[in-house]
Amino acid sequence: MDTIKKTDQNIINTYARFQKVFVSGEGCVLKDENDNSYIDFLAGIAVCSLGHCHPKITEAICHQASKLVHVSNLFYTQPQAELASLLVEKSFADKVFFANSGAEANEAAIKLARRYFQVQGDKNKFKIITLEKSFHGRTMATLSATGQDKIKQGFDPVLEKFIHVPFNDIDSLRKCIDQSYDNDSKNSNICAIMLEPVQGEGGVIPADKDYLKEVRKLCDDNDIFLIFDEIQTGIGRCGRLFAYEEYNIEPDIMTLAKALGNGLPIGAMLASKKAKKGFDLGSHGSTFGGTPLVTAAAIEVVKIISDPDFLAKCRNKGEYFKQKLFVLKEKYRFIKDIRGMGLLIALEFETESDKKIDAADIVKKCMEKGFIINGIQGNILRFAPPLIVEENQIDKLVQCLDDILATENQ
Ligand SMILES: Cc1ncc(COP(=O)(O)O)c(C=O)c1O
Repeated sequence: MDTIKKTDQNIINTYARFQKVFVSGEGCVLKDENDNSYIDFLAGIAVCSLGHCHPKITEAICHQASKLVHVSNLFYTQPQAELASLLVEKSFADKVFFANSGAEANEAAIKLARRYFQVQGDKNKFKIITLEKSFHGRTMATLSATGQDKIKQGFDPVLEKFIHVPFNDIDSLRKCIDQSYDNDSKNSNICAIMLEPVQGEGGVIPADKDYLKEVRKLCDDNDIFLIFDEIQTGIGRCGRLFAYEEYNIEPDIMTLAKALGNGLPIGAMLASKKAKKGFDLGSHGSTFGGTPLVTAAAIEVVKIISDPDFLAKCRNKGEYFKQKLFVLKEKYRFIKDIRGMGLLIALEFETESDKKIDAADIVKKCMEKGFIINGIQGNILRFAPPLIVEENQIDKLVQCLDDILATENQ
């Protein structure tokens, strides 16, 4: 039986898959079972940032796989210790907790923020503010945190005490916090504000610089933890090791996953000196969190991506890519906006004009021409290529988009 048939017959159908079976990858190029090549501008949804089968990552995986794969967190391992110290050294954080995915890292962040105040005796400080259009994962807590109704459908009752406010709207946030002081209480009942510095699934929408500065201040003034979900934006994706560096502020808690393992499953929750106190012996755990195998790969990822020259190149390529897309915007009136940070970039089509472009249709046509891109929210193309993408590959994709959009224009 062929792969597609076997998959469809035996795996619960939760993904809208393309009819493609990939068998190998190298750098930014993927090959399907018919030996067709595709330039990958999605990187496994912002995961394979060093491209497919990067020699140093492959070597780290093979070397570690031949030594030790798993022993449980009842013991110490060298790669786990080394990755934790690297992440602490390169970030605001004082300590790290390892999980296996983005959603799990966010679960840890939510639990940490709540528990911090509970162990302090502040039993009413458990509400969490998140943003409309946010995406934080698919577990019960993280889908409850997510500010998109479609993700919650069919799962009622979702977890209570998540409040969603509009993104980039400081007045709404301030009002929400003002209302969080229960009648005679001196404390806000909000324990955390959780947000993506650039909303990924929601449409690649960067937070305004002034907005995040004000959010930081509101958190400080009201004893609220600021949690940055950098699962998509972190590890170089936005041109800095962490996107928060673009904003000159620091969170109290940050979550990472996706690119951290370049394809191996890993999540991490990083916490400040204060926030880390929310967890102590036995308060959280994970059988697989931070195994020697995944952390050995992640060490190499962090070492390569944190190189300032590497990051500068990402920023330059991101600007180059955006400039090229802006040229298309000048040409086609149905392109509404080009935006993004680093190599997380979006092209948004008008929804109001007479000519409506379906992002999924453009994605399909790109695929037929040998390019993998992504469509979100119906009218937005998202580009998240491996950070090692080359300018000539960007040129090829933009030419392909130009050709496709020219036919739409007729
Ligand atoms: C910002 C953000 N948070 C959380 C998640 C969930 O991560 P995972 O799918 O690894 O659970 C994602 C995944 O797309 C994400 O983009």
